[in-house]
Amino acid sequence: QDEIYANGLGGVMPRFPMTYAELEARAQQALAPSVWSYVAGGAGDERTQRANVAAFERWGLLPRMFVGAAERDLSVELFGMRLPSPVFMAPVGVIGLCAQDGYGDLATARAAARTGVPMVASTLSVDPMEQVAMEFGGTPGFFQLYTPTDRDLAASLVHRAVAAGFKGIVVTLDTWITGWRPRDLSTGNFPQLRGHCLANYTSDPVFRSRLQRPPEEDPRAAVLTWAQLFGNPLTWADLPWLRSLTDLPLIVKGICHPDDARRAKDNGVDGIYCSNHGGRQANGGLPALDLLPAVVEAAGGLPVLFDSGIRSGADIIKALALGATAVGIGRPYAYGLALGGTDGIVHVLRSLLAEADLIMAVDGYPTLEDLNREALQPVA
Ligand code: FNR
Repeated sequence: QDEIYANGLGGVMPRFPMTYAELEARAQQALAPSVWSYVAGGAGDERTQRANVAAFERWGLLPRMFVGAAERDLSVELFGMRLPSPVFMAPVGVIGLCAQDGYGDLATARAAARTGVPMVASTLSVDPMEQVAMEFGGTPGFFQLYTPTDRDLAASLVHRAVAAGFKGIVVTLDTWITGWRPRDLSTGNFPQLRGHCLANYTSDPVFRSRLQRPPEEDPRAAVLTWAQLFGNPLTWADLPWLRSLTDLPLIVKGICHPDDARRAKDNGVDGIYCSNHGGRQANGGLPALDLLPAVVEAAGGLPVLFDSGIRSGADIIKALALGATAVGIGRPYAYGLALGGTDGIVHVLRSLLAEADLIMAVDGYPTLEDLNREALQPVA
């Protein structure tokens, strides 16, 4: 904020939008229509997606005075690491489509390095995870696994993530099949099938061993093999096997029911990730924020990551007050990438964090411990 006002005194306007509405509008202009549909769209008539965002409006933060919150501490302990802020970049597959130069994963990793905000790198990337991890600088990174049906391939992806220095594995449970997405269906666009986000597969020795000919020679066959292996409808019986793949923190994404959170904890996961995939997978659901408190309670002290609907610093604060340990940014940073590569993402993250920090200052909540359920009241 100080930087922007100081530039303003010198007549220099900010390079990137300062409101979410403008960020979204400019990203729409910057992206090809089919890419815009893919990123902005969701399942069905997108009621759940909109509800995710609207849910934040039903909570208000209670301001406290005479606190003297001149110094704020937004740092958080997560899986034995101290992060500068309780915010991370949620996995966004095929994010290369949003980047002007196509290298969206690397641009995102560089934004993680510059901001200290961890990236959860999607399985579906333009660049192999080893190259993405090399851009993290000192910021920890997480690898998101779409578990293939081929167990050897799944193990290979996880082992590569460990070797590449990722600090945790996020297994996404709600997307072994693609939801009903009318916008993508209308454009006929299923970007994964174009094959340019399959670098983690085509660079994988196990995947390559499943092909008759190398993917460089027969890319079409590689895409078809990928499509056959992609989605594994996991059951609880698979969790011990997943757990056995790594000693890294194992986090399960897509948990919205308290019973699932409890059972995942009992089966040895290290973190619960409450999310409905930004309303991209199933319409007709509840807003993820409404499900968070019960999941937190059931998680019984395990860290709970949260995403779906975060659009502002105020949203971050509300999710934390409802019990999230760390909060994931999704579409907003993809839009930042569309507008200005790494600089655009850094702008989005810094703006969200600046707003969150200023709310803690003005409302008198100097630390994250102060931000609890008591800090919020439902809007009448
Ligand atoms: C996603 N999301 C996602 N999640 C995941 O586990 N693996 C993935 O590859 C993807 N890919 C993906 C692509 C795009 C274009 C979007 C917008 C989202 C879901 C993501 O991690 C997160 O759950 C949502 O983005 C949160 O919702 P909002 O805040 O973006 O609305």
